[in-house]
Amino acid sequence: MPSPYNGYVAEIDYSHAFYPEIAPTSLAFALLLKGVQPPRVSGDFAYCELGCGQGLSSNLLAGMHPRARFWGVDFLPSHIAGARHLAEEAGHVNAVFLDDSFEDFAQRPGPDFDIIALHGVWSWVSAENRAILVDILRRRLKPGGMVYVSYNCLPGWAADMPVRQLLLDQVSASVGPLPERIEEALRFGQRLSRLGGYFDHVAGAGPHLDSLLAKSDSYIAHEYLNRDWAPFYHAEVARDLEAAKLNFAASATLLDHLEDWRLAPDALALLAETSDPTRRETLRDYLTYTRFRRDIFIRGPRRLAPSEREARLRDFRFGLCVPRDEVPESVSTPKGEIALPAALYAPLADALAAGPQGLSALLKLPALAEQGFEAVLTALTALVGLGVAVPVPPEEEGRAEGCARFNHAVLRQNRHAPDLRQLASPVLGTGLQVDLLDRLFLLARQEGREPAAFAWTILSERGKRLRRNGEWLETAEENLAELGRLHDVFTRSRLPLLRAWGIVEG
Ligand SMILES: C[S@@+](CC[C@H](N)C(=O)[O-])C[C@H]1O[C@@H](n2cnc3c(N)ncnc32)[C@H](O)[C@@H]1O
Repeated sequence: MPSPYNGYVAEIDYSHAFYPEIAPTSLAFALLLKGVQPPRVSGDFAYCELGCGQGLSSNLLAGMHPRARFWGVDFLPSHIAGARHLAEEAGHVNAVFLDDSFEDFAQRPGPDFDIIALHGVWSWVSAENRAILVDILRRRLKPGGMVYVSYNCLPGWAADMPVRQLLLDQVSASVGPLPERIEEALRFGQRLSRLGGYFDHVAGAGPHLDSLLAKSDSYIAHEYLNRDWAPFYHAEVARDLEAAKLNFAASATLLDHLEDWRLAPDALALLAETSDPTRRETLRDYLTYTRFRRDIFIRGPRRLAPSEREARLRDFRFGLCVPRDEVPESVSTPKGEIALPAALYAPLADALAAGPQGLSALLKLPALAEQGFEAVLTALTALVGLGVAVPVPPEEEGRAEGCARFNHAVLRQNRHAPDLRQLASPVLGTGLQVDLLDRLFLLARQEGREPAAFAWTILSERGKRLRRNGEWLETAEENLAELGRLHDVFTRSRLPLLRAWGIVEG
């Protein structure tokens, strides 16, 4: 009997992950930066994630946007069973998970969507499936709706494509459990890479192969080992999506919006010579040697007048998602180290550290008022792109409760499985990664247990021990003492932040 998975790796589940770029508010912010009207992203809207994997993103967003409705679609039943379990534990009534193939889903009657997200899907499915996806987008996206699509792109991948082929060939030629075959293929690749030839000619290929040794089997399987795998030029994706009446509107990678961080003046001048947006993006990928794109397409883009764009952006709120002292003072870019001017970034970071602020309110602060709207907006874009700030959705009734239920469910699952790492912040409106020990300390609080002893029970059940000053701690007493010390550090440094972000109540 033929496999129902069309050559897609079904032997290892995909990892649990939340990608902040696919949050509705982040997508809307990226569109507004380009002066394009976003669809509705607060209150009642409909969001569909095609190829939702373990469904962590859709589940987290369902807690964050209690009046919106979320659909997650993925043909691997193990993914959907896990996603449904989390949704049930979190008590979500606004999230539906279907173990449909894209083909099944295309035939299923259902609602039209304001937002459709495809993260890590487009480059990893067959041409037939991409055609089905275009059909779904054509029929199920509302006019004015947006599509997020990420993909491996050319020319950034061109020189490294043989690395992927080598891995695939090696894994296909061996038998046994997939993790062992992956390990063997990587070791073989390393031997080959020391013998010159291709690996001498393409400087990055050997390091690329070496870097895979540190990646999880799940990542390698889903990124490299599907039968169908193809990087694309942006122009090819834009042409395919035209059939669904979609136009490219913005990059969801916010650092892409800071073009002078990556491109020299003569490169920017060359790009300015073309008025065709598709050609411009494709040429830009040559100049930046981009390997992975996150694009936002719109069905029927409505261009905002500059005054309307500014008014909409002034209404946006932003929050810091790291401690104030982790906001960088400079950033390394392809053009070298760029200092973030303290006169602009310091008052901005100080203000955001006190809690989410609207851009209008920020612009009333004397130190920022003198910088002006565009400068402050650019700095906020940079902070969000660097992962130290987030655009915050408008406040909404039920969010705190939705996030609390999601966080309780995630922490409960951490009792048995350590791979759910993100918790929802109702204050920042996004998911934040929390370290394993901190999650165990939070679970101990939730269950009214003594934190160090509780964490040690779980770690020792999993055969784990701690290290101090590079030395493994052998005995239970040593581990417990270290956990007690780490819990004190957690209580003093991170717990207050988790409280301020609404992840811990009270
Ligand atoms: C690389 S994973 C990305 C998962 C998720 N979007 C994320 O970012 O965590 C791609 C997902 O697409 C699903 N998928 C691939 N082909 C599919 C198809 N034809 N129909 C439905 N789901 C499919 C896979 O099962 C897998 O979970």
